[in-house]
Amino acid sequence: MDKSKIPADQRQALGALLDDHRAVKKLFKDFEGAKDESRKRSIAAETCSQLTVHAEIEEEIFYPSLRDMSDEIDDMLDEAKVEHQVAKDLMAILESQPDAEVMEATYKVLSEYVGHHVEEEETEMFKAVIKAKINLRDVAGRMASRKDELVSATA
Ligand SMILES: [Fe+2]
Ligand SMILES: [Fe+2]
Repeated sequence: MDKSKIPADQRQALGALLDDHRAVKKLFKDFEGAKDESRKRSIAAETCSQLTVHAEIEEEIFYPSLRDMSDEIDDMLDEAKVEHQVAKDLMAILESQPDAEVMEATYKVLSEYVGHHVEEEETEMFKAVIKAKINLRDVAGRMASRKDELVSATA
């Protein structure tokens, strides 16, 4: 999804989420290219912390702001919530410091799973939000300040 093509009412909010998606996808790639186990573990830890902040912002602010706009979007939100839970279960395995094989296998499943979730958000949910002309200007500001809080709390 091209940020410059997003209408102004949705650009800042969706743009921030797109940036998060790009950052996590880059970590998935970095993991694939990482040679040693300690590097892989540190990328996995960074992935979990970024995904946790991202999921929290979506669940606390972004998803609720889309509720009751349409049945189609409500169904997407229900599905997204379940997908977040599955991702959290996978991250809990990673955060339990499993042995190298389990860590690598779990990370691989997490990256494929989150890749799919992100794809659905961008190609279905974000598109539906733009089509429904939902004004997200205030939401964008709340998302940004919540992100600052969460990032400084985890730093
Ligand atoms: Fe999400
Ligand atoms: Fe997302």
